[in-house]
Amino acid sequence: MTSHKLTVALESRSYSIHIGSGLIKAGGDSLLLPRLRGHHGVVVTNTTIAPLYLRQVQEWLAAAGYESTAIILPDGEEFKNHEVLQRLYHEMFQAGVQRNGFVCALGGGVVGDLAGYAAATYMRGIDLIQVPTTVLAQVDSSIGGKNGVNLDVGKNLVGTTYQPRVVISDVDFIASLPEREFLCGLGEVVKYGLLAGADFISFLEMNRVEIAERKPRSLAIMTHSCSRIKADFVVRDEHDLLGVRAALNLGHTVAHALEKTYAYQKLGHGEAVAVGLVCALALSQTMKLLSEAAFQRALKLLDLYGLPMLVPADADPEILVNLMRRDKKAGRGLSMVLLRGLGDPFLDENIDAGLLREIIDKCKKPLVVA
Ligand SMILES: NC(=O)c1ccc[n+]([C@@H]2O[C@H](COP(=O)([O-])OP(=O)(O)OC[C@H]3O[C@@H](n4cnc5c(N)ncnc54)[C@H](O)[C@@H]3O)[C@@H](O)[C@H]2O)c1
Repeated sequence: MTSHKLTVALESRSYSIHIGSGLIKAGGDSLLLPRLRGHHGVVVTNTTIAPLYLRQVQEWLAAAGYESTAIILPDGEEFKNHEVLQRLYHEMFQAGVQRNGFVCALGGGVVGDLAGYAAATYMRGIDLIQVPTTVLAQVDSSIGGKNGVNLDVGKNLVGTTYQPRVVISDVDFIASLPEREFLCGLGEVVKYGLLAGADFISFLEMNRVEIAERKPRSLAIMTHSCSRIKADFVVRDEHDLLGVRAALNLGHTVAHALEKTYAYQKLGHGEAVAVGLVCALALSQTMKLLSEAAFQRALKLLDLYGLPMLVPADADPEILVNLMRRDKKAGRGLSMVLLRGLGDPFLDENIDAGLLREIIDKCKKPLVVA
């Protein structure tokens, strides 16, 4: 299978994203790696991924002339904190990582965010290679340089924007991903469809079976499209200052509030995003920004992929809207990304709280027309 290559064009911080099957294996193409500053670094991963892919990645690095020490972290969002970060810095130091060393982040978004933050800050910044192993990490978190850790009071409150030197998305890793994690990743994929518009939506409509069966060829095309869309937003607004990159938060304002309300137990992130997308779509349609036909097409796409689409019956719209006002990305008022059409997102910073509460209530019942 051919691999796809993209460039994230950020002047001196530009880098390639390679997407395909069989990219990382003994004898795989280690030429995909750029020339790093030194020859020694660490592979940071977790206890779940290490037995599956660590050896393969270390051998692949070795074939390109890079020696690595493994650092294996505990698995889970609850470990994306300062305590584990401290341990990581220590182990990097013990492993002899120097200013010219590298960090290779092998894992999902949790490993990517932690290891990315460590790479950005250790000795004021060393080379970072992202090797994402979940759908979410391949289509989203490994691209764009955001990293960080959680605080007790909230998620992702400490971090930097620090671009990797390269991203290698080998879709073969997705074969072992638990079904629920796979589905969560697809919530983000559908979001990209709504951001990008008709072409990518048609691809998703026509390739559902192959994607659900995790056929490498379809996963690679899907991941390539999503990565291209994300890279485009990142290039136009690397530091999230212009309101352009904010479009990537489509569905996320409601999602974050739902996740918080249920203490991150009831809905996985991608599932919450899917419900958040329904709310954003319903609000856009009610505000006459989005046609009924476009609204129904978007709902059917979520449905096609088996994503959850209902706000839980016991969710309190008042509490959700209050949480949204306090969202890290909320700005001054109540803001949300809406759609003027499929493929035409914008940040509305003046959302009517009363209307949003009504929409949240309305989204407790199915809106898709059979
Ligand atoms: N930096 C960004 O731009 C950005 C964007 C979105 C999300 N995030 C962050 O990403 C994190 C979520 O990432 P995630 O959804 O990848 O979750 P995750 O990293 O927790 O991975 C999900 C689970 O799947 C396991 N796993 C990973 N790859 C596997 C594989 N190939 N086979 C079997 N099991 C595998 C993991 O060990 C874990 O148990 C959150 O912390 C979120 O804040 C960051």
